[in-house]
Amino acid sequence: MTNEEVVNFKKMAWQSKEAAEVYNKGVQPNLYFNLIEFPLYMDYIKETDSVFDMAAGTGILTLYLADRVRKVVASDISKEMLFYIEQQKKPNVSIFHVDSDTCDFSKVGKFDVVTSHWFMPHYAKWEHFLAQKKQLCKKNGYIIFDLLSKDNMLLAKKDIIQVKKALGYSEHAVGVSETELKEACDRLNLEVVKLIPTSFIASNGLFLSELTFDEYVSYRECVEKLYHNPIFMDFIQKFEKTIVQSSNIATSLKYIAVLQNKG
Ligand SMILES: C[S@@+](CC[C@H](N)C(=O)[O-])C[C@H]1O[C@@H](n2cnc3c(N)ncnc32)[C@H](O)[C@@H]1O
Repeated sequence: MTNEEVVNFKKMAWQSKEAAEVYNKGVQPNLYFNLIEFPLYMDYIKETDSVFDMAAGTGILTLYLADRVRKVVASDISKEMLFYIEQQKKPNVSIFHVDSDTCDFSKVGKFDVVTSHWFMPHYAKWEHFLAQKKQLCKKNGYIIFDLLSKDNMLLAKKDIIQVKKALGYSEHAVGVSETELKEACDRLNLEVVKLIPTSFIASNGLFLSELTFDEYVSYRECVEKLYHNPIFMDFIQKFEKTIVQSSNIATSLKYIAVLQNKG
């Protein structure tokens, strides 16, 4: 599939009531997002800020942000996905039904922060989506999103399609190396403020190198069960903060990228 074909395929993937319902059931807020991943976004977001959440889906990040910031715009190409956000009737959340691939965002307004979650790793055309996000971001505002580390995917010493599948992504998912991200940011006049490794226990290139595909999948199933256990999560929260985020042993496959718009 070409990049264009993947983008078109992904545009359609969640545009039915049934698909949106299945997605919403599968992606309920969990302790991992609320205790570990989304607080990383909040380190760069103030309660007075306006946030544009691109490809918000059924709102796992939008709704987390809504309780913590002044206003959030939840945008997505799928009305069926956005329905689940509308249903919550949050007074500071507005819905924007739009195709982020083709929209001229320069006419939409500027936000303090532009976010996305589980969007960029789906596209080889990630630099184009980054440029789209920049159009929505105020000067010195932040652009924050998750990505798959291409560098750490190589640590898995496996066929890269197998790595993506082990992580639950389709073969069209894409990793981005630190160098590629920096080069793209230079072209777009964005600064890489921080690349934060996360999900060390669940998504790790070194662990994947030691296990077969099937062993890794069953290992992840065990970890995901533990993610519902508050005592385990208390440990993971401290482990990620004190060891993963503050040391050089980052072998995580998942990163949070924090960029600043330099104008
Ligand atoms: C994997 S879901 C992530 C949703 C949500 N951010 C989350 O974390 O659960 C990807 C979302 O991207 C949306 N999407 C795909 N292509 C899009 C496009 N061109 N413009 C806007 N949204 C798009 C889909 O409709 C879907 O809701």
